[in-house]
Amino acid sequence: MEKKSQLYSGDIPSWQEKGYRSIWMPYTQMKNSPMPIPVVETSGVRMKLDDGTELIDSLSSWWSTCHGYNHPRIVEAVIEQAKVMPHVMFGGVNHPQALRLASRLSAMLPGDLNHVFLSDSGSVSVEVSMKMAVQYWLNQSIQGRHRFICFRHGYHGDTTGAMSVCDPENGMHSHFKGFLMEQYPLDIPITESDFSSFESFVKAHADSVAAVIMEPLVQGAGGMRFHPPETVARIRKLCDQYNLLLILDEIATGFGRTGTMFACEQAEVVPDIICLSKALTGGTMGLAATIAREHVFNQFLSDDPMHALMHGPTYMGNPLACAAANASLDLFEEEPRLEQAKKLQKIITSELAPCRKFSGVVDVRSQGAIGVVQVETLHHLDWLRARFVEEEVWIRPFGDAIYITPALIMSEDDIKTVCRAMVRVIEEWSQLEN
Ligand SMILES: Cc1ncc(COP(=O)(O)O)c(C=O)c1O
Repeated sequence: MEKKSQLYSGDIPSWQEKGYRSIWMPYTQMKNSPMPIPVVETSGVRMKLDDGTELIDSLSSWWSTCHGYNHPRIVEAVIEQAKVMPHVMFGGVNHPQALRLASRLSAMLPGDLNHVFLSDSGSVSVEVSMKMAVQYWLNQSIQGRHRFICFRHGYHGDTTGAMSVCDPENGMHSHFKGFLMEQYPLDIPITESDFSSFESFVKAHADSVAAVIMEPLVQGAGGMRFHPPETVARIRKLCDQYNLLLILDEIATGFGRTGTMFACEQAEVVPDIICLSKALTGGTMGLAATIAREHVFNQFLSDDPMHALMHGPTYMGNPLACAAANASLDLFEEEPRLEQAKKLQKIITSELAPCRKFSGVVDVRSQGAIGVVQVETLHHLDWLRARFVEEEVWIRPFGDAIYITPALIMSEDDIKTVCRAMVRVIEEWSQLEN
């Protein structure tokens, strides 16, 4: 194991030195990866490291801290709730925070997305949506509809059902062959000819399909690819035409990230099921929601107890998480988050534009509070990550993308600092030997 971090110039603190022998890090080759950065405090858009250095978090902790870290309104709501009831099981029990949250989500979502099933993480909410879709058909005594149409470059989580609908390569379908369920991964249709192939596929396979699942407008962790709202609208139409359910995974795009509260609004589409998480609690703690329309929910109403939705995580509807989510929704109501996202898009678009001329850069794009510099091959990855830390910004490139998803409240000065650091570092990187 490396003794000295290559990402961070300070000394490795004793708590990290000692604990690192026991921790298992995500997406990390534990044999030789550099030590992670030791974060001891957060505030606003900043993470404070053990040696006192502060980094601007350009990722809002994986798209979650939309109001910045430690927002006093959310912190206060969680503390107050902790004094009253930090947790209570949800089976056979209701509590005010969860029910208030459910009615607020159903009121703010488009159409009749009215039935809110709570769980504890994005991946689990995707599992629930898949189970809901399969059982929707079974409850009508329609057999054999248990596959999903999903998309290349898609990402829906790391649990096995969710993995099966991820991009086949990133989801490691061949590596885990025989373990993952077989699905129908297709290219996202954009052109007329794409749509005609897509429609032919749907026509031929509709009888075995439970639902189409997609991230609307922006595919996140599977490659940071964008597609136009018309694509989502046309997929919705085809789902209606061939009687398929449409699941929109808005775990990353929800809560203002793309410039509207939900990305599906830009496509004027109401999915049959929607998944939300990440910024749902303002990035305070794990919580997710799978929300179904009336016609989906109604198929679970029956005199047969087996027609109920058979799912129930221990921490579903955790009162602390629901209190955080309710406080986060208050902030969305009271503060101009969507305008802030749009303003960030303008700045990101103009500030990142110079990256286009660097060799190795194939595209620069933005959508709401998301900025992406796509490169041919992401060589010198550890060098890049360390250079960003040196610049006092937290950016974690992956795949072929160097990207940012800042908190929606990031100031003009801070976002410019981040973008200018990106331009500097990417220019240096483009001059390194491949
Ligand atoms: C679109 C999308 N779906 C699902 C997930 C999985 O969420 P979680 O990491 O909370 O399980 C993610 C996480 O990055 C995501 O971006």
